[in-house]
Amino acid sequence: MSANQQPILEGRGLSKRFGGHQALNKVDFQLFPGEVLALAGDNGAGKSTLIKCISGAHLPSEGTVFLEGKPIHITSAQEARTHGIETIYQDLALAENLDVGANVFLGREPMTKMFGFLPMLDRKLMRSASAEVLDTLEIHTRLDKPVRELSGGQKQAVAIGRAIYWKARVLIMDEPTAALGVPEQRKVVELIHRLKSQGVSIIFISHNLIDIFAVADRIMVLRRGELAGERNAKDTNGDEIVKLMVGG
Ligand SMILES: Nc1ncnc2c1ncn2[C@@H]1O[C@H](COP(=O)(O)OP(=O)(O)OP(=O)(O)O)[C@@H](O)[C@H]1O
Ligand SMILES: [Mg+2]
Repeated sequence: MSANQQPILEGRGLSKRFGGHQALNKVDFQLFPGEVLALAGDNGAGKSTLIKCISGAHLPSEGTVFLEGKPIHITSAQEARTHGIETIYQDLALAENLDVGANVFLGREPMTKMFGFLPMLDRKLMRSASAEVLDTLEIHTRLDKPVRELSGGQKQAVAIGRAIYWKARVLIMDEPTAALGVPEQRKVVELIHRLKSQGVSIIFISHNLIDIFAVADRIMVLRRGELAGERNAKDTNGDEIVKLMVGG
């Protein structure tokens, strides 16, 4: 990424305190258009806190987030979405009892009118539109299946499909492969490559260095709430990243 390119998303001096605990301390970051940025760090290093400050789940105690150079003050995930920022948290935030189609539209359901006047959910549109988006991602699952009956990997895929349908420009994924089996991890890695090729900028949190090196252009390492270092993936290796993670 060239230094003169404008980041799509940038944070300057982001800090977050929880009571007396400094979870994040003056962290700067940039995410460039079409880039996959991996966020690495030990447990409690501040990775989730950082992305929550970006996605509206937390308000930073200090610092500013910029979208395409303009300061933004996001106070909810809903608001982040209107800016094209979609976040997939580790627990996914899917509604387990609803089917796949309903989950793609969760919180943004299209309506139609029964008998021309009674408002009702447009289930047909939800199914056909979700079928289309899951198809382009080559995700094959029955759309009328309640989400609770899907595997972890299929759930990730639905969450990713939802981000695509709503045309996320920035996709933030907090440990998307942590709870998955090996084939499903591969699928998610494949989906990330596909999204990147469609121009989506991605922040990817993982403890798994193999996944990180499989997807990342750049790797940012946090340690005890501070930026421990930043490397282009092609200029570093697992040993160096681990050293940055543990310090010393
Ligand atoms: N809501 C909260 N209230 C109080 N402390 C919190 C809260 N969220 C996080 N912390 C603390 O902030 C620090 C950073 O937590 P964070 O969840 O960002 O770490 P992480 O890098 O995502 O770790 P992990 O890899 O285990 O998910 C930790 O010490 C954690 O205990
Ligand atoms: Mg975390």
